Amino acid sequence: MRIRDSGMPEEAYWESLFDVPLILSKLCIARFHDVAELGCGYGTFSIPVAKAIRGTLFTFDVDPAMLARTAERGSGLPIRQQLRDVMSEGFGVRADAVLLFNILHCEEPVRLLQHAADALNPAGEVLVIHWRHDIATPRGPAADIRPSPSQIAGWATEAGLSASAVIDLPPWHYGLQLRPT
Ligand SMILES: C[S@@+](CC[C@H](N)C(=O)[O-])C[C@H]1O[C@@H](n2cnc3c(N)ncnc32)[C@H](O)[C@@H]1O
Repeated sequence: MRIRDSGMPEEAYWESLFDVPLILSKLCIARFHDVAELGCGYGTFSIPVAKAIRGTLFTFDVDPAMLARTAERGSGLPIRQQLRDVMSEGFGVRADAVLLFNILHCEEPVRLLQHAADALNPAGEVLVIHWRHDIATPRGPAADIRPSPSQIAGWATEAGLSASAVIDLPPWHYGLQLRPT
């Protein structure tokens, strides 16, 4: 099932809304070998993640146009991509980090976090970023479905994961590292 409110604006505008190097640096992405990502979108994070890690980026999307754009931008990089409904089918791979970026406003967040936890190698982490809920932002899901860090931490506990302190990812986002308990 396609996650609600997961449509994308035009690519250049979307990519103006993130400081991607800062986000990946604060999440210490380069320490991971294999990484799995739900929703490659335009490849905004897929491409720099694949360049930063030592292993393979496995990325999944339900939208063939998004997969095509990411493939075009990621030619020659260690990326394996698949048309896959992760919400229904899970990830189907194991990785050292699972990325849930701009995704946890979905209808069944605990189920999705369980899929992510199931995909982790030992000592792996689920990395989350999301739009801040406490300020007005230029994009992002509607306020009534936008999760706060404490909501995500609560869902993580239900999925057997423990949340880090909140990581500030200016201008519009925050992050959490979730580790198996
Ligand atoms: C809001 S975009 C975020 C893309 C990317 N993570 C980013 O932050 O740039 C959500 C993406 O998830 C994809 N998506 C929605 N539901 C999905 C599902 N059930 N399984 C896999 N991908 C899904 C959408 O097609 C879209 O490309």
